[in-house]
Amino acid sequence: MSILSLQNVVKRYPMGQNEVLALKGVSLTVESGELLAFAGPSGSGKTTLLNIVGCLDQASEGEVILDGQRVQGLSAAALGLLRAEKVGFVFQSFNLIPVLSALENVELALRLGGQPPDRARAEQALVDVGLADQLHRRPNQLSGGQQQRVAIARALVKAPKLVIADEPTANLDSVNGAAVLDLMRKLNEERGATFLFSTHDNLVLSRVNRVVRLRDGEIVADERVSR
Ligand SMILES: Nc1ncnc2c1ncn2[C@@H]1O[C@H](COP(=O)(O)OP(=O)(O)O)[C@@H](O)[C@H]1O
Ligand SMILES: [Mg+2]
Repeated sequence: MSILSLQNVVKRYPMGQNEVLALKGVSLTVESGELLAFAGPSGSGKTTLLNIVGCLDQASEGEVILDGQRVQGLSAAALGLLRAEKVGFVFQSFNLIPVLSALENVELALRLGGQPPDRARAEQALVDVGLADQLHRRPNQLSGGQQQRVAIARALVKAPKLVIADEPTANLDSVNGAAVLDLMRKLNEERGATFLFSTHDNLVLSRVNRVVRLRDGEIVADERVSR
């Protein structure tokens, strides 16, 4: 079964008296376990698309089916539950809570996902991303690459079916960017979760197995890459 199916998804944002047409009818199917990047210039609609797919926002028109469930028309509360159950996010700017340690940041994600506190599980998630020695450090005591690893552990601790990373390497140097991508690729292979990235970084494009190119809110190319 497909993890994700989009049919003619349109997104309009109000802009004063006018509106911006950010997605102009996007149709796409993603199979479970894919490692896919949305590529395209700034303003092409990548973040808008990831937000809709990740149940952070809703389409203005069209059909979105996530893991067999229709997303369109759900209440905000139902959308939040679906997101908590199925989606892990890795944000470009990491979005870690500065006063919490790495471990506490990951534990909080479990709690926000409606799961019981589980220190051992949170620790294991950090061990899995190579941070066994940094459990008790706060974000400002970690490098950018390490912070992004905490963000990955936080996204994966709930074992989501879908992991979404919006420009995951944008705030990393090329060495840390490559390491973080190799880590996500490994987790993709080991866990079978589906990973969706947005990027305009060639480093990312060389490490995924499908590239979907967007321009002005439309898909202009869809290429499978064997690796
Ligand atoms: N909240 C918003 N309100 C109004 N316009 C928006 C909003 N978010 C994005 N847009 C517009 O939608 C288009 C697509 O933006 P975005 O999805 O952020 O593209 P990308 O992530 O590829 O840079 C752009 O024209 C952008 O200005
Ligand atoms: Mg963006």
